[in-house]
Amino acid sequence: MTQADPLLFLQGVTKTYGSGQAAFQALRGVDLAIAEGEFVAVMGPSGSGKSTVMNILGCLDTPSSGTYLFRGMHVERLDRDQRALLRRRHLGFVFQGFNLLARTSALENVELPLLYRGENLTARHEAARGALAQVGLAGWEAHTPGELSGGQQQRVAIARAIVTRPTLLLADEPTGNLDTARSHEIMELLATLNREQGITVLMVTHEPDMAEYAHRVVHFKDGLVEREEHNGAGHGQGSAQFSAASFGAPGGPSVGEAPR
Ligand SMILES: Nc1ncnc2c1ncn2[C@@H]1O[C@H](COP(=O)(O)OP(=O)(O)OP(=O)(O)O)[C@@H](O)[C@H]1O
Ligand SMILES: [Mg+2]
Repeated sequence: MTQADPLLFLQGVTKTYGSGQAAFQALRGVDLAIAEGEFVAVMGPSGSGKSTVMNILGCLDTPSSGTYLFRGMHVERLDRDQRALLRRRHLGFVFQGFNLLARTSALENVELPLLYRGENLTARHEAARGALAQVGLAGWEAHTPGELSGGQQQRVAIARAIVTRPTLLLADEPTGNLDTARSHEIMELLATLNREQGITVLMVTHEPDMAEYAHRVVHFKDGLVEREEHNGAGHGQGSAQFSAASFGAPGGPSVGEAPR
């Protein structure tokens, strides 16, 4: 890791929902730095502010106070349009509920962000096919979400998130609706994208097994970062359970799957 600006830097970030008697402070002064190329897991009890901080980092919401730097740029000073531009250019999102358009093919779902960017049909098709192949879904382009399993739907959602070649992938409980085997496949995929394409990954999870794929785990409690731990050799706590397989042996984990 270099001493250069981190990719993301939060200092004293607060978020208050509502006002007056009904006001609730979901974030109470979050400090967090994430370097380019990191894979970070966010854990913590329900209501501790994990999604709130993800939404702020993803420019879907703004902090009530504090500093948010993206590559040294003050995001909290950007207006709505500038934030939208940052989002389109640098960020990809994956949610627990997949959020795919029903009755719309996998290919068209993945193309959507490129449509918003104004790219032409040929370029969109090519990029979307490439992204689907990357998540192991070559041959599944014409299937609609209803014709895909939960794990496959989440892979389509990941393809949609990476088709723009984002700097940062934000995933809020990406395996929350999946069984254990499917969850591990999704984690292998995120780890591969992080390792091979240098996409910085920030992921919320409630499952310690999934957090082990990350380089670092940030624990939230009551709207604050409570503690952090490093996974992997020489970094303490997580190292015993942390296997090389988590990052894939040479040749990589198999995320491929033949069409039905
Ligand atoms: N739009 C909103 N309006 C009012 N309160 C909100 C809003 N969004 C979140 N909150 C409150 O802020 C707190 C933090 O919510 P947040 O969604 O960040 O928690 P979380 O850590 O993601 O929890 P979970 O693990 O259940 O997803 C909660 O008490 C929640 O009720
Ligand atoms: Mg949440």
